[in-house]
Amino acid sequence: MDTSKEAALQRLEKEMHADDSLPLQESNLVFGEGSPDADVMFIGEAPGFYEDREKRPFVGRAGKLLDKLMEEIGWKREEVYITNIVKRRPPDNRDPLPHEIEAYKKYLPEHIRIIGPKIIVPVGRFAMNYFLPSAQISRDHGKYFWMRDMIVMPMYHTAAALRNPAILDASRLDFVKLKEVKDRYEELKAKRREESVKQTESLL
Ligand code: URA
Repeated sequence: MDTSKEAALQRLEKEMHADDSLPLQESNLVFGEGSPDADVMFIGEAPGFYEDREKRPFVGRAGKLLDKLMEEIGWKREEVYITNIVKRRPPDNRDPLPHEIEAYKKYLPEHIRIIGPKIIVPVGRFAMNYFLPSAQISRDHGKYFWMRDMIVMPMYHTAAALRNPAILDASRLDFVKLKEVKDRYEELKAKRREESVKQTESLL
């Protein structure tokens, strides 16, 4: 394990703890967990009741489904990294408000930089719209988008999949695709480079 990453994560968590300008101070900071060397980083919207209680992301019913969808493609929770954009629970599990997302999102680039994932999976539309402001979850779930050398692949929120069997079916297919994209990441990256060289050459 990369101990410098562990130390950087601890520093960032401490810094967020100390920042009392962050909203939702009445609930616990749920920083994130998983492998600091993960290739895949799941980013949800905000903790719920169980996450607040355990100070761990995605441990309630939606989290159990996330674990199951990972298991179905042969992945273990400990191999990935899981966090949220808003890192404290909004009361009564309401959606995070724009000013809450705004306040917490300034810490996200550093969180991502430390982990250095190949693939970011925004879980649900709030997280998706942070990366892809004009994307629509019903149209763009399971598609992949390049952000520099990282792939962003939005998924339906697992809470939505719990309520709607059609969304659960779509999510299962999206996870199969996610595994394929991860397995072919280097090849996809090389192809993309080749295409951009070709495009540049055609301009010359
Ligand atoms: N939903 C989220 O978006 N994040 C969690 O951590 C739990 C449920």
